[in-house]
Amino acid sequence: ERGGFKHFMLKEIFEQPRTVGDTIKGYVSRDYLLPFNLRDFRRILILACGTSYHAGLVGSYWMNKYLQTPVEVMYASEFRYADVPVGERDLVIAISQSGETADTRYSALSAKEKGATVLSLVNVMGSALDRESDYTLYTHAGPEIGVAATKTFTSQLAVLYSLAVSHLPDRDRFMEKLSSVPHMMEEVLGEAEQIKKVALKYANRKNMLYLGRYLSYPVALEGALKLKEISYIHAEGYPAGEMKHGPIALIDENMPVLVVVPRDRVYEKVLSNIEEVLTRRGSVISVGFRDDETLTKVSKDLIGVPEVDEDLTPFLTVIPLQLFAYYIADHLGLDVDQPRNLAKTVTVE
Ligand code: M6R
Repeated sequence: ERGGFKHFMLKEIFEQPRTVGDTIKGYVSRDYLLPFNLRDFRRILILACGTSYHAGLVGSYWMNKYLQTPVEVMYASEFRYADVPVGERDLVIAISQSGETADTRYSALSAKEKGATVLSLVNVMGSALDRESDYTLYTHAGPEIGVAATKTFTSQLAVLYSLAVSHLPDRDRFMEKLSSVPHMMEEVLGEAEQIKKVALKYANRKNMLYLGRYLSYPVALEGALKLKEISYIHAEGYPAGEMKHGPIALIDENMPVLVVVPRDRVYEKVLSNIEEVLTRRGSVISVGFRDDETLTKVSKDLIGVPEVDEDLTPFLTVIPLQLFAYYIADHLGLDVDQPRNLAKTVTVE
């Protein structure tokens, strides 16, 4: 059932071109369309936990850019006790792979009680959140067995992107661009052996810092979460621009810094963060565009992905981070699919 793969997680990472493709197919036509326009709401509040929260963060950047409706993202576990004013003119988007996460469900229910419209984004049809929401959209990723979420993250991205552009007059053009993603994901997966080689150099480290800015910031958070949960190596994801406000104190020759740095609007800024790391003798592993000569010069290791429109970079840059964590955990002989202390579905508060 693992289809020749050593672990479900690896199988699920490799399934992504297909699962993202299947999800896009569900949203290319307008059939799924909701009976409301996202722009009709006063504000959009995205609630989720863990990896689903990271997908929500990426989605918020797309929505801010294309919808011009204020969008906020909050951990569902924080929202519940935070007295956030919510009302009838708010749309709550609750994101959950399982649709059973207690914090996400109860947050959505309380928002609904206060009059908000709840749209959920789930992978499991018929799950509690699916039943409890006003509307549901599905991520057509198929069952995810590995405790570490991988393919559901990229499917959540596909739905969120489709939503963010759904009202645009040239929506079809955006969806066409999105449709080119699965093929490029294949290309990234084709580099798995090289990614493994890079990863194994860092398998014995105790700490790592992951940096990214703009759309790559949530990707950095997601990469660090993957490394923590399956390899038990302490990894911290941070917005690259915030490094100088504290974490820079951690950098010395013992601190590997993984930087997600595609050529996008903040590229130059992130390059100067890389310089700051180098000045303090930190070693830089960068995930960027594969033909990037500048990056090659400043990085100890560069993991390249195909060049793509900046909007779509998270689909590609997250894959090397998933594989990086996987290969390290497997090398350390750990139980990749069932890491200690974790459950696939967290139904306790
Ligand atoms: O089923 P959900 O998407 O609601 O789960 C949320 C988190 O528990 C989940 O993403 C968790 O962080 C994963 N283990 C991450 O890999």
